[in-house]
Amino acid sequence: MSDFDGTKHGFLFACTNKTEKECFERLLFGTERAYGPVVIRIKKGDLLFLNNLSTNVLYGVFRAVSDGKYNIQPDSWSGKYPYQVKVDVLGKPIALENAKIILKKIDMGRYTILSGKKLIELLDCFMPDNLLFNTTQNPNDREPFRIIMAEKDGIRKNKNVGPIFEVPPIEATTFWDFLRQGYGSTNKGNNKYPGVTPALIIYNLIWRYTDPEDLVVDPMCGSGTTIDVCKEEMREVKGYDISPVRSDIIQNDARKIPLENNSVDMIFIDSPYGDNVKYNDHPEDIGKISSETEKFYDELEKVMQECHRILKEGKILGWLIGDQWVKNKFTHVGFKIYDRLCRYFEPVDIICVARRGQSSHTGLWFNRARRFNFYLRGFKYLIIMRKTSEKESRKSRKVEWTNYERVKK
Ligand SMILES: C[S@@+](CC[C@H](N)C(=O)[O-])C[C@H]1O[C@@H](n2cnc3c(N)ncnc32)[C@H](O)[C@@H]1O
Repeated sequence: MSDFDGTKHGFLFACTNKTEKECFERLLFGTERAYGPVVIRIKKGDLLFLNNLSTNVLYGVFRAVSDGKYNIQPDSWSGKYPYQVKVDVLGKPIALENAKIILKKIDMGRYTILSGKKLIELLDCFMPDNLLFNTTQNPNDREPFRIIMAEKDGIRKNKNVGPIFEVPPIEATTFWDFLRQGYGSTNKGNNKYPGVTPALIIYNLIWRYTDPEDLVVDPMCGSGTTIDVCKEEMREVKGYDISPVRSDIIQNDARKIPLENNSVDMIFIDSPYGDNVKYNDHPEDIGKISSETEKFYDELEKVMQECHRILKEGKILGWLIGDQWVKNKFTHVGFKIYDRLCRYFEPVDIICVARRGQSSHTGLWFNRARRFNFYLRGFKYLIIMRKTSEKESRKSRKVEWTNYERVKK
């Protein structure tokens, strides 16, 4: 990242007339969790810009004097903007009118991270190369321009392209369709592992429901996708599997998780969907039990009970599951898992995740599905559940059922 290879990146923050004063007084920029994935990628020395949305002014140029972090000053903006970075000003702040037009021209949004030519283009708006100094000008007034000029030279000279900074936005709807298994410049799990999870499912869950350093657990973590995503996004993580394929995965049966009650901030599970995939030779692999039998759901219910025990009150469990159609028989695995989960948790939402990269998604199978009148699986369910607090669940049990008299014949 920028600390190591000298590559500077540029980041955009926003404020309003209500919040601007605090940004300048504290020399601190802050934002909500929705932009957390951008903020945690800021490194000391990166360049920052501040857009006042009320006045359409763009302030620059600032330099990060800390890495981007969660809660540097918890009392700032009454705790509303906990993703923060400490800044200083290059000389003194320069205010540019028509921020919207400038940002549109260089195609910069809140999820954009600028580097190289694009960053120079934005710096040009503050200090064009052909700016002529007035010899009568106070040298202090020239200072910010000199510093910006030096920054531009530094960026031009640096031949490193730097890491590929991809910050996927947080999904807004209940339909998720990811074209690739991974994201960013490093592998997330192993895309050759049978039933590997799309990394952006986990990315979206942890950015919606946790903050950096929270503990995330995956009791059936396969090739370790959850571990890799959590490390990149700065969460604590523990990954277990009945048959580990990497040294950082702990061998364990998900029906008994070696963690204390109420100790985990989020759980993600992409469980077997039946016995259609061979994961390993371990006799306790639940993926050896057919989802056409009740035993499959009974065993997974034991996993659900364990998840409920280790999860902190009010925290989230995300369970990915798909239906099955085998030999002319449809099994609604998703609804059955949902039903069992509801015995322990309160439903938050259900996401429809498009299935991509399926071995059955070929011309031959598409043709068969049409000719023999069946459907290939096109989506999975991501069931999002919350562990309710004791108080809440007592409240919800107060529901008064209406008892209807049986009609006597
Ligand atoms: C769909 S895969 C998980 C894929 C994983 N999320 C990834 O991205 O690679 C299901 C996993 O459940 C594991 N599993 C099956 N039975 C288990 C059990 N009783 N306890 C723990 N893990 C189990 C399998 O070994 C398999 O790796």
